[in-house]
Amino acid sequence: MVEVAMGTRLMKAAVCRRPTSIGALTITDTAVPAVPEDGVLVRVHASSANPVDLYALTPVAHLQRGRKPAIVGTDFAGIVESVGSRVTRYRPGDEVFGGVRGAFAEYAAVAEDGAVARKPAGVSFEDAGTLAVAGTTALQALRDHGGVASGQRVLINGASGGVGTFAVQIAKAFGAEVTAVCSARNVELVRGLGADHVVDYMRDDFRRSAGGFDLMLDVAGNRSWSECARLLKRGGTFVGVGAAGVQHGSGGGLRLIRHLLDVRIRSIGGGKKVVVLFVAKLNPPDLETLGELVESGRVKPVIDRRYDVTRVAEALGYLDEGHSMGKVAIGIGA
Ligand SMILES: NC(=O)c1ccc[n+]([C@@H]2O[C@H](COP(=O)([O-])OP(=O)(O)OC[C@H]3O[C@@H](n4cnc5c(N)ncnc54)[C@H](OP(=O)(O)O)[C@@H]3O)[C@@H](O)[C@H]2O)c1
Repeated sequence: MVEVAMGTRLMKAAVCRRPTSIGALTITDTAVPAVPEDGVLVRVHASSANPVDLYALTPVAHLQRGRKPAIVGTDFAGIVESVGSRVTRYRPGDEVFGGVRGAFAEYAAVAEDGAVARKPAGVSFEDAGTLAVAGTTALQALRDHGGVASGQRVLINGASGGVGTFAVQIAKAFGAEVTAVCSARNVELVRGLGADHVVDYMRDDFRRSAGGFDLMLDVAGNRSWSECARLLKRGGTFVGVGAAGVQHGSGGGLRLIRHLLDVRIRSIGGGKKVVVLFVAKLNPPDLETLGELVESGRVKPVIDRRYDVTRVAEALGYLDEGHSMGKVAIGIGA
């Protein structure tokens, strides 16, 4: 337990006090956040693990937050417990979801204008708790950076993880013809999400794919620019989302930046639109879009494994292996 003033209300949370290995992350008692004047205090019911949560454990992240302790976790879904004096849009009892730093905890505070939206009634807390980071990334990569449109041929490399499973379904919702790249064990999963063609990267040589794609979403980030470029039409768009081998504690962040810069530099003058180093920006309208897509059944979050928050280190350890099939859900005292 940490030292807190007498009378302070306590909650369970995954607190990172210093750079740490995933296995050393534990749940401790810490103070419930104050209700912001312009925000709401949410009783969190569900969350999910994202690579950005692994970044929170690194020395660089620790320095960025001024060496202060921080609660790990981003995605949340829960019920508004109390609202600040300046809040107009939410009331206690509202069901909400979104993304905020410090979500692997029983309570999270979020600004009314922050990344929070009403949870559609027909969407479970568990499903809503998977949407913010991975869903927004897939949506913004395809729609805002990729300009996806009906009838386009879209290639998604790394189609079976958190971002990839949303991307396949969102691209189909936009009317695209989707080719998904994943490993053998995920072929049926990805086909079930609506992919028109599936390439098993363990059996089929990626470079021998027919090509002629309007848009390539590179979530796996394990291919050179020359391999990707020849699959795109002239004037086609490449959106780099992630990179391979960025496991926690492996200098992965640097490898990601190096890979994306390499793509950026090698692609200059190649007649293709290239978007790299984009960082998804969580916002209420996009959360609402994701909520509607799920409520209407056009997108169904794929949940690979479920962990209680007390086992958050195991959840993050599994994500860090880099082969989750969809999302790793985290339940928090619902
Ligand atoms: N730019 C942004 O704002 C942003 C936001 C979120 C995430 N990201 C990045 O996006 C990446 C994916 O995130 P995520 O949440 O989807 O991670 P994830 O859930 O761990 O998914 C990783 C996926 O990569 C697949 N994969 C591994 N090796 C592959 C290969 N050689 N070819 C094709 N697929 C392969 C795995 O599938 P198999 O098991 O089938 O190999 C797995 O499904 C990460 O690098 C993350 O940092 C970027």
